[in-house]
Amino acid sequence: MVLLREVTTADWPLWRDARLAALADSPEAFKASLADWPHGGEERWRARLAAPGSYGVVALLDGRAVGMAAGLVVADGAHELRSVWVGPRARGRGVGDRLIAAVEAWAVRSGAGSLRLGVIPGNTPAIALYSRHGFTPAGRPGGLLPGGRTRELLMVKALGAGTA
Ligand SMILES: CC(C)(COP(=O)(O)OP(=O)(O)OC[C@H]1O[C@@H](n2cnc3c(N)ncnc32)[C@H](O)[C@@H]1OP(=O)(O)O)[C@@H](O)C(=O)NCCC(=O)NCCS
Repeated sequence: MVLLREVTTADWPLWRDARLAALADSPEAFKASLADWPHGGEERWRARLAAPGSYGVVALLDGRAVGMAAGLVVADGAHELRSVWVGPRARGRGVGDRLIAAVEAWAVRSGAGSLRLGVIPGNTPAIALYSRHGFTPAGRPGGLLPGGRTRELLMVKALGAGTA
């Protein structure tokens, strides 16, 4: 059975393992690359989890990380869904649904009026998952992707009574 665990700074090794597994498994899905993150670097991993307005949840199967998702309040005050990953061993079992629901619940608890995300255009499984959860294109361009030619697709979901 896949269990979800909300992480604290003390869980930084678990978060590191999940993030490195995600970047190794699906490099095409993320703006960050494996080379951006040190394999050790306790301080940097802890700092990521301790950042104000930061939330993390990991999916565990037999004690090993098989999925993750993050929430982050960014500079303009928006709440963002980030770093969504479900490993091949756990796909197609609703784990992505549960991870998104956890981040959405965090955003609602934090008083957010909406949750947004950036996805690489062409990432069909991810876009299908987000659309199923009520995210729609924000109608303005997302951040530039490495290489500087394409931009992320920005999607947003309004959060209100009955949407959490
Ligand atoms: C996007 C992602 C989180 C979805 O995982 P998930 O929650 O298990 O997916 P779903 O439950 O929505 O799966 C629905 C169906 O699509 C299939 N599917 C899921 N991800 C798939 C993928 N990457 N490639 C092909 N098929 C996929 C599932 O097997 C399932 O098929 P089924 O209905 O026949 O069983 C996962 O594919 C993933 O982590 N991909 C790599 C990282 C990524 O793209 N992250 C998003 C960054 S914005």
